Amino acid sequence: MLKIQVTRQGKSSIIIADSSKTLAQNLFVQRFFKGIPLCSGIGTCGQCAVRFLTNPPQPSLKDNAYFSHRELSQGLRLGCTHCPEPGQSVELLGTEAPGQFSWKSREVPEYLGIDIGTSSVRWGFLHQDGQISHGQAINPQIGAGPDIMSRLSFARESTWNYNLLNRLLVEEVQSILDLYDLPDNRICISGNPAMLYFLLGRDISGLSVSPYFLDYEGGVSETLGSKPVNVFIPSLCSPFVGGDISAGLTWILEKIQPACPFLLADFGTNGELVLALSPDKYISTSVALGPALEGIGLKSGSLYREGVASGFEISSLGIEPRDSWHTGKVSGSGYISLLGHLIRLKLVSPSGHFVKEGLSPIAKNISTNIKEGRLSLGGKFYLDGRDIEEILKVKAAFTLGLSFLCAQGDILPDKLKSIYIAGALGKHSNLIDLETLGFFPPGSSHKSHVVGNTSLKGAILLAGDRGKRHCNIALGRLVESVNLGSRTDYISGQFAGHMLFEYPR
Ligand code: FES
Repeated sequence: MLKIQVTRQGKSSIIIADSSKTLAQNLFVQRFFKGIPLCSGIGTCGQCAVRFLTNPPQPSLKDNAYFSHRELSQGLRLGCTHCPEPGQSVELLGTEAPGQFSWKSREVPEYLGIDIGTSSVRWGFLHQDGQISHGQAINPQIGAGPDIMSRLSFARESTWNYNLLNRLLVEEVQSILDLYDLPDNRICISGNPAMLYFLLGRDISGLSVSPYFLDYEGGVSETLGSKPVNVFIPSLCSPFVGGDISAGLTWILEKIQPACPFLLADFGTNGELVLALSPDKYISTSVALGPALEGIGLKSGSLYREGVASGFEISSLGIEPRDSWHTGKVSGSGYISLLGHLIRLKLVSPSGHFVKEGLSPIAKNISTNIKEGRLSLGGKFYLDGRDIEEILKVKAAFTLGLSFLCAQGDILPDKLKSIYIAGALGKHSNLIDLETLGFFPPGSSHKSHVVGNTSLKGAILLAGDRGKRHCNIALGRLVESVNLGSRTDYISGQFAGHMLFEYPR
């Protein structure tokens, strides 16, 4: 253990640091990173950046890739690539992504749904007049790892770590409950199994190591909060498919009533896929996608908010953001949109590389903004090979999961009657772009529907309609889960074929 000085916004404090952990991990456990959208060591977000005021370490490979020579000479480093050393003093540079919330109605809020995602927490108060006031914040656990498995492994390192992750979620949920004192039994909290286990302070061993198992199946009310209230937790389907999926499926069956077979694809840090083969037969699987689709971990990525580009269009001036872009940041669906254009223009190849030869006049015009392997679109924004590769990895993991699930269900994706796209990409995504990037087979966009955050919609439905809770509990029992993670033979044999921006044949 050693002491280092940390300065943030002009205030300095001394912390006791663990030299076996990275500086970023030390700063996370000391709670310096609340609200900062970290990629947790992937090395792409730059939100863990610090300026070493004393004893700067030699730049790491990721530092060299991320910072300019000038920034490196000023002592800038990525905190996730260095362990603390004696006598160091650092200044924090990451910028908080402020939580977003405003009341949308003067009417009394009657019900509350909360969706705890691995990267973000979102909620909605349903008012008497039917309006919904939405809010969102970065999941405060994010510094412990970008995905579920890394959070679970962080928590298993020590009771102190586990308690920290539990406390962070409990505090976040409490801050939402404090927005309005709702009477008992009008709240529902959905999320994947790990998030719900952390929130409820349950033993995570069954989720962390093989053979995986659930010892808690949800579908019950729990007492939560500093002024205790009963909160409904939707049913969990398997160690990897949770209340977010059962709540979302409940909402789809209630509000859309689709014909089978259909697919629910919930894009988040974890991708969850449910194949509805008949009204009483569902199979599901989940794949780790990482936080890129939430806009986290990409050089100019951001959760969507006003001023963040969520889509691009081609104009006579080249490629431009669809709406106001004063932040210079791009959401996950913004990156998908941008890449969709670049691939259709053949400026980016199926393997994710910029193309220089044989371009159309418009592509040639845009290509003048590509220098040293980076496409600049004004301001500080640029798209480089690392960001493209992050999206390509997401696409590969997703289509691997989809092919696996369809094989288990003995159905070709072409035979699906409809595809519901939910989650992080939600309402801002364009189906043609997803098809262009190869997330779905050619021709799928006409039967695909963007349905937004179905986990949250389901949570609001289940908060307000107790009759639907019985359907949710029954659904939890009907969904059979198939674990792709245990099929290492399938993954190693197939993954390379999915690392292309096209649907595998
Ligand atoms: S947490 Fe270090 S680059 Fe993202």
